[in-house]
Amino acid sequence: MEKQELGKTGYALNDPTAPIGVFDSGVGGLTVAREIMRQIPNERLIYFGDTARVPYGNKSKETVTKFSKQIVRFLKTQRVKAIVIACNTASAYALDEIEKELDIPIIGVVKPGARVAAEVTKNKKVGVIATAGTIQSRIYTDYIQGIQKDIQVIGKACPLFVPLVEEGLLEDPVTDEIATRYLNELKDIDIDTLILGCTHYPLIRSTLGRIMGESVTLVNPAYETARELKELLAGEGLLNPSTKRLGTNQYQFFVSDGADKFKTFANSILKYGILSAQIIHIEEY
Ligand code: DGL
Repeated sequence: MEKQELGKTGYALNDPTAPIGVFDSGVGGLTVAREIMRQIPNERLIYFGDTARVPYGNKSKETVTKFSKQIVRFLKTQRVKAIVIACNTASAYALDEIEKELDIPIIGVVKPGARVAAEVTKNKKVGVIATAGTIQSRIYTDYIQGIQKDIQVIGKACPLFVPLVEEGLLEDPVTDEIATRYLNELKDIDIDTLILGCTHYPLIRSTLGRIMGESVTLVNPAYETARELKELLAGEGLLNPSTKRLGTNQYQFFVSDGADKFKTFANSILKYGILSAQIIHIEEY
């Protein structure tokens, strides 16, 4: 057999033991990483949070696509075997374009979330809360109505949620007040399903659930994304066959700024202790 060239991390291209790359504009993608860790525990992950340039949600498609491509180039230097765009805004704006150019599997979080919502709704009224970019793209509406045409999809941009989460104000009267203002509109329309269409939002799920009440099902696309990732890797023969412990390097974290703040936050929501978060000058990629 021809000897495969190894990357600087020692993995060959399409090596099942190589890590999965996961990225977001900041800490939000950790809600997806957490679910991947739970559902496929013997995989290595390389997480990148673009903490210097968060938020993505109010930036143009061109800017978000440029940022996403830089991150994909960085992740490729780590020889990842697949990539998860753990950010709805980047999934909405950049996934299609990146997918065309990439030689490894890549998935986003929007399609999996849309599929679950279409399945769950009974009264065919689905709310989507997300960044301004994701709402403007109408991607959830298109996917959901592509599955079932008569489902009404009502989008609501909630631009203040991301800074509140990035500041760690997960259980706070300010978050409560803002969430009440944003969600009242959706409550009036009588939706029965609400998609948390931004990976930051599951971190304030209890507040959102309390305000919407028990009759509304909250959909967190992370669960379905991790399930689809597992299926995709299995289909490509890329699931890590290793059953032994993968050591302290199993999960590696990179950010573009504020490594200490990121580390503290990540340690508060992941049960696996994060040893370090390393800074990368992402604009060089
Ligand atoms: N967490 C991201 C999302 O799912 C982006 C939030 C932001 O950077 O605005 O859309």
